[in-house]
Amino acid sequence: MIRPGTPADLPAIDAFDPFGDSRADEVAAGRLAVYERDGRAVGFLTVATDALLGHPFVSYLAVAPEARRQGVGSALLADAERRHTGLRLLISTEETNAPMRALLTARGYTVSGVLHGLNQDGPAEVFYYKDC
Ligand SMILES: CC(C)(COP(=O)(O)OP(=O)(O)OC[C@H]1O[C@@H](n2cnc3c(N)ncnc32)[C@H](O)[C@@H]1OP(=O)(O)O)[C@@H](O)C(=O)NCCC(=O)NCCS
Repeated sequence: MIRPGTPADLPAIDAFDPFGDSRADEVAAGRLAVYERDGRAVGFLTVATDALLGHPFVSYLAVAPEARRQGVGSALLADAERRHTGLRLLISTEETNAPMRALLTARGYTVSGVLHGLNQDGPAEVFYYKDC
């Protein structure tokens, strides 16, 4: 089941969130969706509205390691696409993130461009879009 995240989801999210900080702000703003399985959040997705030249931007997407390759990430993206019908949805990932890039290709996203320097000395960031 996909539903809006609540503060009660934060401990489960923190247990697998790879992005380093808290998702509390996104929950408080109503911008975080969770995929709940057996009463626990096993995936989440956040959207920043109006982030890039007025386009919504998926800022964070992660699935708990034990729940990967079971359609959770794809379902969260499909839900975000439905919620942004008629809009161009943007998303980005590091160029070395093969699972994420495969997921975006599988869901029909188009590469928009590559930005160097966003990840300090790390990999370039690849931006994608999809017309929902
Ligand atoms: C990227 C991520 C969100 C994918 O979530 P997921 O729930 O495992 O993805 P799904 O099961 O919905 O995969 C859907 C399709 O994407 C592709 N895919 C996903 N993971 C893949 C992998 N490890 N290798 C190859 N293809 C992959 C496949 O086409 C897959 O379909 P299939 O399983 O029928 O072959 C997950 O690996 C993750 O949380 N990674 C760490 C956080 C991260 O990198 N987030 C993105 C940064 S912005």
